[in-house]
Amino acid sequence: MADLSTNYMGLFLRNPLVASASPLSHTVDGVRRLADAGVGAVVMHSLFEEEVFAEAERQAELAEAGSESFAESLSYFTDVPGVEAGGRRYLSVLERAAPVVDVPVIASLNGTTPKGWTRYAHQMESAGASAIELNVYSSPPGADTSGREVEERHVEVLALVKSAVSVPVAVKLSPYYSSVGEVALRLAEAGADALVLFNRFLHSDIDPEALEVVAGLGLSSPSEGRLARTWVALLRQRLDIGLAASTGVESGDDVAKYLLAGADVVMTASALLRHGLGHAEILLDGLRDWMGRKGFASVSRLRGLLSVPPGPDQAGEERAGYVAALRAANANLVGPW
Ligand SMILES: Cc1cc2nc3c(=O)[nH]c(=O)nc-3n(C[C@H](O)[C@H](O)[C@H](O)COP(=O)(O)O)c2cc1C
Repeated sequence: MADLSTNYMGLFLRNPLVASASPLSHTVDGVRRLADAGVGAVVMHSLFEEEVFAEAERQAELAEAGSESFAESLSYFTDVPGVEAGGRRYLSVLERAAPVVDVPVIASLNGTTPKGWTRYAHQMESAGASAIELNVYSSPPGADTSGREVEERHVEVLALVKSAVSVPVAVKLSPYYSSVGEVALRLAEAGADALVLFNRFLHSDIDPEALEVVAGLGLSSPSEGRLARTWVALLRQRLDIGLAASTGVESGDDVAKYLLAGADVVMTASALLRHGLGHAEILLDGLRDWMGRKGFASVSRLRGLLSVPPGPDQAGEERAGYVAALRAANANLVGPW
């Protein structure tokens, strides 16, 4: 039987498949069902500080009107000064879920203020989070914000959270920096225990019939994994921190490809939302089958086999791959169109 165990930022995982942040982990039962589905760890959906504030305002209004409708959430973490009800509900799910599952539960935080980042990170650790993932995404910055300012903010947030907790801290990145590699190296230098490549974003669209702007977060397709895989392969030998791959995992082969590129763990959200939690076992069986066919006895033997060696040639390798891909595409072009 192949050994699927892996180490992710110091956490021992029974296998490298991780349920990434999604609505599937909104409840204690959701977290339990994800763990029962066989994954190696569960990342909870993000706690968004701005939503917590919005809910606090709603509650204050209800309290003024004498409503008891938030009684349940208020009963948790009542002794935590300065933590609003929305935050208390998240912490309560975490506090109840972490001890009843046999895999690490990673909390995810999207803060807006320095106090929010540190306070909630600290409370997440107290509530039993094995690690904290920083969802540093914020709505697109104004046109006059420089890329450097955005990146500086990430480094500052990381330093703040690192100073507030002792559990490992991962940073979940977007693919939209002018230099993803440099941002990754800076965050590693600033003390990130792991990087997650990549987040998925809410993109609004326009409904031409209704003449309306519509918001949406579509599920991914496997071909979208190529970008994350390229960056995992380029960064693996440059970084000695954890690397999590997140985007477009649909089959056991997709998991294998990310591991060959150098990921310590491979995350999935869209496939579980699309096919149900039973798909986790299909992904793991696919990985085991592939390892059997290729003669790999353990994940540690195959991790990073196809990562890119560091050095001045990295750009050359990428370019060579790009040119080869264009040549192959051109050779296949047979009109008429
Ligand atoms: C419906 C939905 C909700 C998500 N919610 C969160 C979230 O709360 N926090 C976060 O960091 N990522 C969130 N994500 C991003 C996923 O965790 C994941 O990184 C991304 O979807 C790429 O992986 P996938 O291709 O397997 O879906 C969400 C994704 C989806 C589809």
